[in-house]
Amino acid sequence: MPVTKILTAGIGEANLRDIGVYRERGGYTQWERAVRELRPSDVLDLAEKSGLRGRGGAGFPTGKKWSFLPSDKHPRYLVCNCDEAEPGTFKDHMLLEEAPHLVLEGMLLGAYGIACHHAFIYIRGEFKRGYEIFSAALEEARRAGLFGRNIFGTDYDLEITVQRGAGAYICGEETGLINSLEGKRGEPRLKPPFPAVEGLYGMPTVVNNVETLAYLVPILERGAEWFSSVGTERSKGYKVVSVSGHVRDPGNYEVPLGTSVREIIELAGGLRPGRTLRAVQPGGGSSACIFEEHLDWPYDYESMTKAGSMLGSGAFVVFDDTTDFVNAAYNLVRFFAHESCGQCTPCREGGSWMERVLERLVHHRGIPGDYEMLLRVSGSITGLNLCALGDSIEPFLKSVMVRFPDAFRSRIAEAVAR
Ligand SMILES: Cc1cc2nc3c(=O)[nH]c(=O)nc-3n(C[C@H](O)[C@H](O)[C@H](O)COP(=O)(O)O)c2cc1C
Ligand code: SF4
Repeated sequence: MPVTKILTAGIGEANLRDIGVYRERGGYTQWERAVRELRPSDVLDLAEKSGLRGRGGAGFPTGKKWSFLPSDKHPRYLVCNCDEAEPGTFKDHMLLEEAPHLVLEGMLLGAYGIACHHAFIYIRGEFKRGYEIFSAALEEARRAGLFGRNIFGTDYDLEITVQRGAGAYICGEETGLINSLEGKRGEPRLKPPFPAVEGLYGMPTVVNNVETLAYLVPILERGAEWFSSVGTERSKGYKVVSVSGHVRDPGNYEVPLGTSVREIIELAGGLRPGRTLRAVQPGGGSSACIFEEHLDWPYDYESMTKAGSMLGSGAFVVFDDTTDFVNAAYNLVRFFAHESCGQCTPCREGGSWMERVLERLVHHRGIPGDYEMLLRVSGSITGLNLCALGDSIEPFLKSVMVRFPDAFRSRIAEAVAR
């Protein structure tokens, strides 16, 4: 399968961190064109017509999200979400480190598209290197007059603020992020009101993922039809997929949406010699597994949902026959239980209960009834929480418990027989 390079073009070949190199390759041309020749509504139209959907997890249509901003409430803000803590996802920090000007140009276009004058980027605390690289790129762009006051001699002003997180997964959830930006605890807010109406500092706010915003640059350059002509009926364009787990060449692979699950595994070098596939987690730690029978399914939002999972942020984790699914489930459940902000009882209590039961199983101390209890407890968490973190605890665990019950039951039987 041919390698696709849209956002990933030039990465590993040119020093895209250098503003000169980025500009030589056409960088910031679309930004200048937008400010000089287009109205914000033209950029919004392009985003809408391209069919671009959010690459941060939920897959919400980007142009539609922007159109929810009330026209009479100002100021309004754009926030670029670079928290990227979803287990298995590592595309945003690659873009931040390797193509910081592309990320910035995408943010500038997004800010212009919603006609705002102050945009923020929230960078996960652990991405120190990415933060430093992006901050240096930002300074280069500021010196070049690409943002600030009277951009390109027009009356359009735009300021950019960089904010570092402190390592909490929940600060990737858009309202937890907004609270954190305001200096409060990173706890998700009750919705509605949605950020588009009442977000940062109580004002209309759009939160978009790094990759979503970055795709605005090629969309402006090549047109909405170019983007929407690729992909499947409702999943348009390209996606950077973070492939990890039991493949020979883990890494970020950019593909047209609708590429088959099998082709993505092959792009990443295939399985290790002599190994067979057990499962794929196609949408990050929050997603259920899909299996061998889904190998020829298209990797797009609708197909992954139909397969009982989701495309999510595009973290694609491959599990071969060496996988210990009890351990894998314990790891993930422990992560979610640790990252729960504690506001909702099902998420806070249910997550830590499941963690304790799985810990028992991992350490060969399972007791009769643990299998049934795990399924029962996990089933009573989903759908009862303020944010999607609570609903993320069950999918992987349930999918592998149902598919590989013996892995769990034999662990319990061994412990009982001791
Ligand atoms: C627990 C949790 C963590 C999240 N982490 C991220 C993240 O790190 N990056 C991200 O872009 N979206 C994350 N999201 C999704 C955001 O809430 C939001 O939907 C997204 O930033 C919107 O951008 P998009 O429309 O461009 O996808 C997370 C959601 C939840 C529930
Ligand atoms: S679901 Fe969990 S993480 Fe989300 S608000 Fe409730 S307690 Fe916090």
